[in-house]
Amino acid sequence: MTVLIIGGSGFLGAELVRQATSAGRVTAATCNSRPGHAADVSWHRLDLRDPRRLGEVIDTVMPSVVINASSGAADWAVTADGPILLTQMTARRGIRLVHVSSDAVFSGTSRSLYDETALPDPVTPYGAAKAAAETAVRLLHPDAVVARTSLIIGDGHSAHEQVVHELAAGTRKGVLFTDDIRCPVHVADLAAALWELASSNAAGVFHLAGPDALSRYALGVLIARRDGIDPSQLPTGLRAKTRPIGALDVRLDSHATQGRLRTRLRGAREFLGTAR
Ligand SMILES: NC(=O)c1ccc[n+]([C@@H]2O[C@H](COP(=O)([O-])OP(=O)(O)OC[C@H]3O[C@@H](n4cnc5c(N)ncnc54)[C@H](OP(=O)(O)O)[C@@H]3O)[C@@H](O)[C@H]2O)c1
Repeated sequence: MTVLIIGGSGFLGAELVRQATSAGRVTAATCNSRPGHAADVSWHRLDLRDPRRLGEVIDTVMPSVVINASSGAADWAVTADGPILLTQMTARRGIRLVHVSSDAVFSGTSRSLYDETALPDPVTPYGAAKAAAETAVRLLHPDAVVARTSLIIGDGHSAHEQVVHELAAGTRKGVLFTDDIRCPVHVADLAAALWELASSNAAGVFHLAGPDALSRYALGVLIARRDGIDPSQLPTGLRAKTRPIGALDVRLDSHATQGRLRTRLRGAREFLGTAR
């Protein structure tokens, strides 16, 4: 069984690649602006905005499973149109698809706890693009998985951890919000859960976030303590005072999905609780 990871050069993609090769899967992956590094992987340059190239990569690799871990932030062509095209192509060829989505599809205004049945109500361009991609996956590829996740943290290498280090060192301007709540997940748990879903016949919407709801500041404090940084160095602020505000309190409730998985999604207090 050949697996194809779209966005294999990204943070989550690299962990998906690592777990796939260690499990002995025949692995292909795509990169866009950065080269992919892992050995034992066939790497393919791909810009999701190029439909011809996307078809070429799929027909060269002929995967049985595709995990889409790409991210184009608020760029609609990459975050919405590209995944829609990928959905059409995989559905037409009978290829299993796992699409990684985000808690950014929710506003955090009418409620804060969102389970798998909650309807997307995005308030940012990024959230709207992710919601559009989700809609296409659910409509055009009903056997596919839409896996929503939250802040992805690793062992020092995620963008969120880097921000904390730079803010503490004073090499970056900004603050950590005390009113912006999310449910962080460890990248290794997330990748394992995605592979578990990819290998099953599960279909529909799944939530893959950790059980601990934390503000960006509280998360920053945990990261700082783990890494031997004085948390008093971390500047704080309120997202509510920024314009546009974006989503404030968005907690993914992953209980239903967790009940179906062997992989345990640890909370940030647990996985950041010990020194690196
Ligand atoms: N990080 C988080 O906290 C978080 C939270 C919620 C949801 N998510 C979702 O989780 C997934 C993985 O996020 P991540 O943080 O691992 O992302 P990331 O590190 O930014 O990686 C993004 C990947 O997408 C690729 N990419 C960018 N533009 C592309 C294009 N035009 N065509 C094809 N590929 C393109 C990048 O390739 P190059 O680097 O080679 O250009 C890279 O491999 C995404 O779906 C994201 O929306 C992330």
